[in-house]
Amino acid sequence: MISYSQLVSQSWPVYPNVTIVRGDLLHPFVSGNKLFKLIPLVDKAKKEGKSFLVSVGGRYSNHLHALAWAGHESGFQTVGLVRGYETQPLTPTLIDCQKWGMHIHFISHDEYEKRYSDEFWTFWLGQYEESLRIDEGGWSKEAIRGSAQWWRGIDPKSTLVVCAIGSGSTYAGLVLSKPKQVKVVGVPVFRDPDNYQALWIKLTDVGVAMDDIHLWPEGAGRGFGKLTVQEQAFKDVFEKQNNCELDPVYTTKVFHALAQRLNSDDALQKHQISVIHTGGLQGNRK
Ligand SMILES: Cc1ncc(COP(=O)(O)O)c(C=O)c1O
Repeated sequence: MISYSQLVSQSWPVYPNVTIVRGDLLHPFVSGNKLFKLIPLVDKAKKEGKSFLVSVGGRYSNHLHALAWAGHESGFQTVGLVRGYETQPLTPTLIDCQKWGMHIHFISHDEYEKRYSDEFWTFWLGQYEESLRIDEGGWSKEAIRGSAQWWRGIDPKSTLVVCAIGSGSTYAGLVLSKPKQVKVVGVPVFRDPDNYQALWIKLTDVGVAMDDIHLWPEGAGRGFGKLTVQEQAFKDVFEKQNNCELDPVYTTKVFHALAQRLNSDDALQKHQISVIHTGGLQGNRK
């Protein structure tokens, strides 16, 4: 049985109109947005009589880490298709995954590039009878539905909510279940030369209205997990002042983007803002 704590919030004294939603405190092993996304997928697997949950991710993947734990807790065998090579040392993330029974296959960067194709999935699901495909980051209508749970912990006075975008499930879930007057802003953590065309298509395909999509693309900075000197300095000061750890891939980008905007855009002062800490701290271990 998978359970987690209630969402708690804290203020950000430097910005009195901002509340931090501490998703990182939801669970000791699987923090942030993961359980909201995975619980409905586990329920689906149960309903469909599946035995294996198969998914993809990198060597520090928060998603695979959470999936391994969720599978372990709910009696499913999990399989992780990991971008990397067997010769590389196991990361703390993968050591935990194995401890929770995940079967790991290392796949090359070229093969990983095919992770959205049916051919890729036909092959891997064919290796495990009664297996459920779980896309990168859990992207699925179930994960999107589950992400509506965030609203339980968001201050109802909020007029603007800010969160990270990886697969987009959390963002889509928040937007599709938001109160009408609230604007939800997403900070993509990956750089995109196509102006996030693929993301726009993905979001509108699941029913997000164009008018409801608000992105702060500059938040991606130098790209996935790469911090600028300025972002690193921001992270250090933020953590000390707020007694709240950030990760370099998602939350540093989001909190830094918000701080930059608040410093330069007076219109934001009129908003009551909730910024979501989506966790990811397990990935900080080296
Ligand atoms: C810590 C953390 N924050 C945010 C995200 C982005 O969430 P999503 O993939 O739902 O866009 C992820 C990835 O799943 C994550 O691990």
